Amino acid sequence: MDFPQDYKLLKQGAEAKIYKGTFLGRPVVVKERFRKTYRHPDLDETISKERLKAEARGILRCKALGVPAPAVYYVDPDTKCMFLEEIDGSTLKDLFTSLLASSSPDDLNQVKLLALSIGEVVGKIHAGHLIHGDLTTSNFLRHGFKTYLIDFGLSSVSTLPEDKAVDLYVLERALVSTHPGCDDLWTQILAGYSKSYTGGSKEVLNKFKEVQARGRKRTMVG
Ligand SMILES: Nc1ncnc2c1ncn2[C@@H]1O[C@H](COP(=O)(O)OP(=O)(O)OP(=O)(O)O)[C@@H](O)[C@H]1O
Ligand SMILES: [Mg+2]
Repeated sequence: MDFPQDYKLLKQGAEAKIYKGTFLGRPVVVKERFRKTYRHPDLDETISKERLKAEARGILRCKALGVPAPAVYYVDPDTKCMFLEEIDGSTLKDLFTSLLASSSPDDLNQVKLLALSIGEVVGKIHAGHLIHGDLTTSNFLRHGFKTYLIDFGLSSVSTLPEDKAVDLYVLERALVSTHPGCDDLWTQILAGYSKSYTGGSKEVLNKFKEVQARGRKRTMVG
């Protein structure tokens, strides 16, 4: 898509380009899913459309569950562009990286608080049967006292504890690789999860242990 001159390319991910600009006078982030040349064009079109739809649905469901997510201003299925409210904050990945490098007790307390907020967000969406599908610390943004969830292209709806457990497993794997030695982070996340998902967290956490054990077995077999 051709954007106005004031639009700046912010990031180029594996699936999408992220631009910053203004739309109807508001600061926006545009997520443009670009064509993957290694995929058959028809398949590529189908996948991109599905992800665009999943993203719009996921954001709306998330907000309806009381979890902060950017507002969707406009979706263009032809160019696969989504215009989103800009959240003027930092990813939890960046925040953890800088806070964990410090040894000040205040910074380490802040890490705990942020990890707790991740758990609360995931607990709330799971209580509402929303599965994110790609939980990593770069998909949480912190602005003020709020933790926002973003990047819903792989989201789905499911009541199955197994699907929720796999969602948690993806997050745990991402934490281990991005923030090594993060046992304390994970403990806080689980505390936040149990706190905000009172009716169902136990069942999911039992499943999570099974999923984890399957994962270990796979690693051992190679
Ligand atoms: N609404 C928003 N407000 C502010 N920044 C945003 C917003 N949406 C996305 N970003 C920034 O762009 C990055 C990538 O966005 P997103 O995760 O939605 O796309 P992606 O293609 O899946 O990227 P990746 O492959 O890095 O996960 C985010 O980590 C965040 O830094
Ligand atoms: Mg992302």
